[in-house]
Amino acid sequence: MPKSPHLHFLLLLVFNVSAFGANAAAAAATGTLQFKEAPQFYNSPDCPLLTDEDDSNGESSIFCSDQAIHVAITLDSAYIRGSMAVILSVLQHSSCPQNIAFHFVASVYPFDDSSVSRLISTSIRSALDCPLNYARSYLANLLPLCVSRVVYLDSDLVLVDDIAKLAATPLGDDSVLAAPQYCNANFTSYFTTTFWSNPSFSLTFANRKPCYFNTGVMAIDLDRWRKGDYTTKIEEWMEVQKRMRIYNLGSLPPFLLVFAGNIVPVDHRWNQHGLGGDNFRGLCRDLHPGPVSLLHWSGKGKPWARLDANRPCPLDALWAPYDLLQTPFALDS
Ligand SMILES: *[C@@H]1O[C@H](CO)[C@@H](O)[C@H](O)[C@H]1NC(C)=O
Repeated sequence: MPKSPHLHFLLLLVFNVSAFGANAAAAAATGTLQFKEAPQFYNSPDCPLLTDEDDSNGESSIFCSDQAIHVAITLDSAYIRGSMAVILSVLQHSSCPQNIAFHFVASVYPFDDSSVSRLISTSIRSALDCPLNYARSYLANLLPLCVSRVVYLDSDLVLVDDIAKLAATPLGDDSVLAAPQYCNANFTSYFTTTFWSNPSFSLTFANRKPCYFNTGVMAIDLDRWRKGDYTTKIEEWMEVQKRMRIYNLGSLPPFLLVFAGNIVPVDHRWNQHGLGGDNFRGLCRDLHPGPVSLLHWSGKGKPWARLDANRPCPLDALWAPYDLLQTPFALDS
């Protein structure tokens, strides 16, 4: 077991995408959940050929390739069905599926979560306090140094467009992160009065025009992240939160504190968010106007839970085709 401080509590699992079907089906057999094998996906003829930058690694060289599209997803038992659907949707809509390197972040031993647990304060929704929810803050530390750009995806979404377009978002001269942002959202409401009434905190936004963005879909320049040591900056805000309660949500506000106003805005089609419903009642939501490249069931309600309960929202029908769960009464073959 490597002794790097961050690998201590989060294990990075890597799968070669060409072996995805068999490996993932076996690996994902958690408890009673069994998953169907996904079909093989093949590159179209004009896809870039991945060069072996480190051929000593043999097959796993895709994980260091600049031409590969690197995607980071968390895996845990509560959301595994969602993670499988994310992967299938990414592969299905990609024209170069064999050039996609998935980096899975999984919690190894529950007690090993302690190093981040001590930084987590209670938020209004306890699911947000799961240590893996904070994995997105540690990608620069968890992923191999050779990976310089990654697309982070939550586990409650599906893509209906080629992830290569999102991954290729230009980050300009110095931006670290690209995500859809929402300048009409009431930014003030993401932080408490304690925060806004203390100039030493609120002045952090003094020379910025901060807008809300959702951290469930982000393209991140990991080299710039590492150089700027943004992990530490995020942790510093989490330390403040532990002492003074400057916000109410979980992993999102520290991202807003560090990056809001300095991100590259991505077209809203890449995060049709809120489909899960609100944080309290799980009401059905409709799509926002405009084109759709990614559907995101953020909020309390999840499509797999509603489908299982036979009370799906209309849009849950768009998630269902990506569900790889093998139901006992529908075993194929
Ligand atoms: C924004 O939210 C704050 C805090 O929740 C509230 O006091 C303020 O009235 C809101 N502003 C608007 C324009 O809704």
